[in-house]
Amino acid sequence: MTSPRWMILVCFSLISVFGTGESLTIIVPEISNEQNSLPAIIAQMSRAIADLNASHKKLLVQQGRSGCNCNPSSLQACYSQRNLANRRLSSCNSQLRSLVAQRSSLLRQVSAFRSQYAAVVKQRAVLQSRLNVFTRYQNYGWKYYRGSFYYVSTSTATWVASRNYCTARGADLVVINDAFENNFTRGLKRKAWIGLYRSGSNWRWVDGSYLSSRASYWAPREPNNLGNREGHVEIRLFNILNSWNDEPWTTANYWICEKKV
Ligand code: BGC
Ligand code: CA
Repeated sequence: MTSPRWMILVCFSLISVFGTGESLTIIVPEISNEQNSLPAIIAQMSRAIADLNASHKKLLVQQGRSGCNCNPSSLQACYSQRNLANRRLSSCNSQLRSLVAQRSSLLRQVSAFRSQYAAVVKQRAVLQSRLNVFTRYQNYGWKYYRGSFYYVSTSTATWVASRNYCTARGADLVVINDAFENNFTRGLKRKAWIGLYRSGSNWRWVDGSYLSSRASYWAPREPNNLGNREGHVEIRLFNILNSWNDEPWTTANYWICEKKV
């Protein structure tokens, strides 16, 4: 049978090995053979218990400093709080990630809106200047037809003076591009200058294009360059489709200006 003294020795040895914690030192009481009476053993055990209590208190203080409490129910509460805090942290992290993604998307939208806005502002400026042109030529009393404003003079002048009148108003003598425009200008019912003239062996419009690249509406037997002095073109026979005639530039004619808008 194991004696109490032996048990105390084993107990103290275990405490000295496992019970001290990292920074604690427990003074293990010496039990001598001479003090083997029961009262002496009890006294030694009491001192050992007192030492143990002191060590326990030190441990508690140490654990308290580290924010832990070894009490099982406190530990449980501690774990629950930690788990709750971890869940909240995780939720916060995913919210943060979502907000960061939303912010990036919003920044992209803002950038797209900015460039759209800039494009709209540019477009508005273009439309405004077109509107200004429309307003100006309407105020002059010019007629609008298929993308251009037209003016028919109320007096007569040479081809050169007629052209000067048009260019002084940001326009030029009419360039007849197609049958619609030819019929429109004929429909104005005037023997009038148009923007076509001889240039060497070619006929050329005032916009720089050559008649050879377009439809032409010469009157029968025209252009005849009568007297070798006819280098500018008028609408002469406006009642028929083929109405153009070459004339000396000095002839006094009505004229037709055109402003493309
Ligand atoms: C015109 C000419 C034209 C001729 C046709 C004249 O009055 O000046 O340009 O070719 O008529 O008959
Ligand atoms: Ca002629």
